[in-house]
Amino acid sequence: MRIAVLGDIHSNLEALTAVLEKTKQLGCDKYVCIGDIVGYNANPHECLEIVRSLDLLAVVMGNHDSYTGNMRELVGFNLQAAKAVEWTREQLSEEELDWLRKLPMKEEVFLGSPSVRFSIVHSTMDNPNMWGYIFDRFTAAASMQYQWTPLCFFGHTHTPLAFIKTDTVTGGIYDTLKLEPNHKYLINVGSVGQPRDRDPRAAFAVYDVEAGEVTLQRVEYDVESSQKKILAAGLPSRLAERLAVGR
Ligand SMILES: [Fe+2]
Repeated sequence: MRIAVLGDIHSNLEALTAVLEKTKQLGCDKYVCIGDIVGYNANPHECLEIVRSLDLLAVVMGNHDSYTGNMRELVGFNLQAAKAVEWTREQLSEEELDWLRKLPMKEEVFLGSPSVRFSIVHSTMDNPNMWGYIFDRFTAAASMQYQWTPLCFFGHTHTPLAFIKTDTVTGGIYDTLKLEPNHKYLINVGSVGQPRDRDPRAAFAVYDVEAGEVTLQRVEYDVESSQKKILAAGLPSRLAERLAVGR
C-alpha cells in the first residue's frame, strides 16, 4: 500500500492536479489530507471537490479551513491571508463551509492488513487548536509527547522537515526516510499549493507501508496559471508573486 500525504493545498488547482498526476504514476492507492485545503489561492471550490472525491483514509482541519468555515474574526492572520479567507468564504456553498467546520483537529489511522498505524494533525499534537508552528526539535519534542503512534504527519509551516525521537529528538530536511522500530517520527510533508522552502515546486509525501519508507516528492506545475487566477480574482498580488519563488 502506498499512501499519498497531501497538505496545505490552499486552493491551488494547478498544483493539486500535477500532484495527483504524480501520485497515480507512483501507484498510490490511498490518501490523507493534513488540512488547509482552502485559502491564499483562487480555486477553493474545485480543490475541495477533488479532495472530497479522493480515497481518503483521514482528513483534518487547518487554520484556514477553520477560519473560512467558522466565520470567526480573523486572529493571527496577516492582511493578505485574511483577505483570501474573506474572499474564499464568498466562493463556497453553505454545505462546503459546513463540511470545513466539521473537520477533526487530529486523527489516528489504524489498518489491520497491512498493519498501518499513524497520526495526522495540521499544526501540533500537543495543542492542535492553538495553531503553533514546529520548526525546531524543542517544539517537535513537545508535540511528540502527545503522539501515541510511531509515525505522525503534519503541515502548517509549508516547510518539509522530519524529526526523529530515539533518546533525544533530532530533525532536519529529508528525501527518503527508512522507518526504524522503536523510533518515533514526526514528519512535515511540505505544501502542495504554497511551498515556502525556496523551492516553488509542489510538495507532498508518499508513505510506502510495505517498504517502511516515507519519501518526499516535488512536482513542477503551471505556476503562471495559478498566478493569473489570483490576480483575476482580485486577491493580493503578493500571493501570486510568492508562488514563483517558493516563499
Ligand atoms: Fe497553510
